[in-house]
Amino acid sequence: MKVLLTGGAGYIGTHTIIEMDAAGHEVVVVDNFYNSCPEAVKRVEQIIGKKVPLYEADVADEAAMDRIFAEHKIDAVVHFAGYKAVGESVRKPLEYYDNNINSTLSLMRAMKKAGVKKLIFSSSATVYGTPEKCPITEDSPTGNCSNPYGWTKYMIEVILRDYCVSDPDMQVILLRYFNPVGAHKSGMIGENPNGIPNNLMPYITQVAVGKLKELSVFGNDYPTHDGTGVRDFIHVVDLARGHVAALNYDKKGAEVFNLGTGTGYSVLDMVNAFQRVNGVAVPYKIGPRRPGDIATCYADPAKAAQELGWNATHGLDDMVRDSWNWQSKNPKGY
Ligand code: NAD
Ligand code: WQD
Repeated sequence: MKVLLTGGAGYIGTHTIIEMDAAGHEVVVVDNFYNSCPEAVKRVEQIIGKKVPLYEADVADEAAMDRIFAEHKIDAVVHFAGYKAVGESVRKPLEYYDNNINSTLSLMRAMKKAGVKKLIFSSSATVYGTPEKCPITEDSPTGNCSNPYGWTKYMIEVILRDYCVSDPDMQVILLRYFNPVGAHKSGMIGENPNGIPNNLMPYITQVAVGKLKELSVFGNDYPTHDGTGVRDFIHVVDLARGHVAALNYDKKGAEVFNLGTGTGYSVLDMVNAFQRVNGVAVPYKIGPRRPGDIATCYADPAKAAQELGWNATHGLDDMVRDSWNWQSKNPKGY
């Protein structure tokens, strides 16, 4: 298939180009480099040994999207493009609603004109809000998001479901990612946050590389095995392969899948595994809870296993090793 990746220069997008190429698909990328850079795609080209058609454009620019669809006979779109920083979304709600929702609307209009009937959307476990139970199945209640970023994902899911009702030939696959970490085994690409990282793994790697002094563990009084928050960390290569599996899913209408491993690890499990596997110290202190955080969140990935034939194959040691391989080879990022 020929697949357009919006936001394909980003962390998950670059890893997905590689897995799609390995599965025999052709990839086209559009990105405005708001949170990425052309160098990331250049590195992917070195890894796969071929050029990747790359358009610098805003997905909300419908005319630019029309031109891409006119130049390429696209079979499916993976829509990664969006702003993703939870804390920033609280400070800049209008920017988040504007970028995430309007880019999706422009994309859908351009796809409609071009007759493209398959869309894979980057949703998030954040749509479950505070889960009633773990593991979380896809039919668990959604909403009650604690920040504008989460609401954009929730609202886009609603928009895409409504669109499927209006066009019975449409296939929309909503992938709810849990906590992506890790990097390609080459160490040439990886997560490259701007400024001080919000997420746990890039914070750990930046402490380990000496860029940050120490990790603050946000609370050790949660009802978990060691008191620190528990999450379903998933290797980004497994996540990327989930998109390849979704391309082969051939059911009409909107369908939702969790992409997680089904296993929860705590913040201290991550720190300890990182130190043990990599032989590097990660100084940390216990700090207060972070507002909006939940104690425990992990997926029931059975539906993706049954219907997509997809399973995560990388374990915790792979995740911490590959994250460190990327960071230690690229202490300043790209
Ligand atoms: P990322 O920021 O690395 O990648 C997103 C890419 O989209 C960036 O390259 C950015 O420049 C681009 N972009 C943003 N707005 C754009 C626009 N209007 N037009 C064109 N390009 C635009 O993020 P990521 O971690 O690769 O995440 C990809 C997707 O997955 C996002 O939608 C994110 O919300 C979602 N997601 C991420 C996580 C996570 O923890 N990384 C978890 C769940 C869901
Ligand atoms: C994980 C655990 C923190 C940083 C977020 C978004 C979610 C999704 C993934 C996009 C928590 C603890 C963290 C630190 C810490 N993104 N922590 N010190 O909050 O589960 O999910 O990213 O969709 O929507 O909300 O991920 O990596 O920020 O935190 O102790 O410096 O690590 O409290 O328990 P989170 P995270």
